[in-house]
Amino acid sequence: MKSKIINFGSINIDHVYRVPHLVKPGETLSSLDLVTGLGGKGANQSVAIARAGVSVAHVGRVFKGDRWAVELLASTGVDTDNIALIEGASGHAIIQVDDQGENAIVLHGGANQSFSIADIESALNHNQQARYLLMQNETNLLAEAFELAQEKGIKIVLNPAPMTDNIKDLPLAKLDTLIVNRGEAEALCGAADIDQMTQQMAALAPQTRVVVTLGGDGAMLLANGEVTHMNSPSVDVVDTTGAGDTFVGYFLAGVAEGMNDHDALQRACLAGSIAVTRQGAIKAIPDRSEVNR
Ligand code: RIB
Repeated sequence: MKSKIINFGSINIDHVYRVPHLVKPGETLSSLDLVTGLGGKGANQSVAIARAGVSVAHVGRVFKGDRWAVELLASTGVDTDNIALIEGASGHAIIQVDDQGENAIVLHGGANQSFSIADIESALNHNQQARYLLMQNETNLLAEAFELAQEKGIKIVLNPAPMTDNIKDLPLAKLDTLIVNRGEAEALCGAADIDQMTQQMAALAPQTRVVVTLGGDGAMLLANGEVTHMNSPSVDVVDTTGAGDTFVGYFLAGVAEGMNDHDALQRACLAGSIAVTRQGAIKAIPDRSEVNR
């Protein structure tokens, strides 16, 4: 299969603990439930793209004993040819989810932090027809992947989650699309107010399509100097884990299949709001027919 999108992204084993409230400093808290399954911002976004009906090749690494994770990704339609099974431990996430559906996540990078430049070159060479490279911030070698994809004329889409200082050193003005949540936008441009944020983002990357996700308040898109705001339907929140990833995958899938920005934004908001009504990351991501309905 020739994929439109290459996703250079994390694959995590998620340990999701249901808790009465997010644990406080110094507190020991018993969980009410534990579910272990596939996650990782990269893997979640690949599944969202595939469920949106667009071809995606995932570039990843997991422990060889976690082949099930690769098989699960493949079963959703993701091209897994560029996922390596290695000796080192897989990445994992300890996730608390409280009664309001809010979460707190501790990550261990593991295999996600062990990519070589050769892995990225090989994935780009195997997917010469791809038009977009998607990246989050749970893998090593982001700057190198950025440069290699740019040399090949591939459009780069970045969701810098979780945000770290090194993101500011990337040539953000050369991105095709930057997708951030409110906290990430604030960390990038130092403004808390949404109007100031918009202006600063426009200055930071004037040619880049910038999307700011606003949780229950929908999302905002800044492109060609124009701002579009999209509301999200009001829903009962069960678990917000992976909702942002669902949004990112659906938005990019829409753009890659030729939707205009407004329609891609609207569908991404709908998909994200369905995801928060269900528990877990990957299993909460809706497919295209459900979102269309
Ligand atoms: O965005 C949710 C994801 O963040 C989880 O699946 C977890 O693995 C962390 O990467």
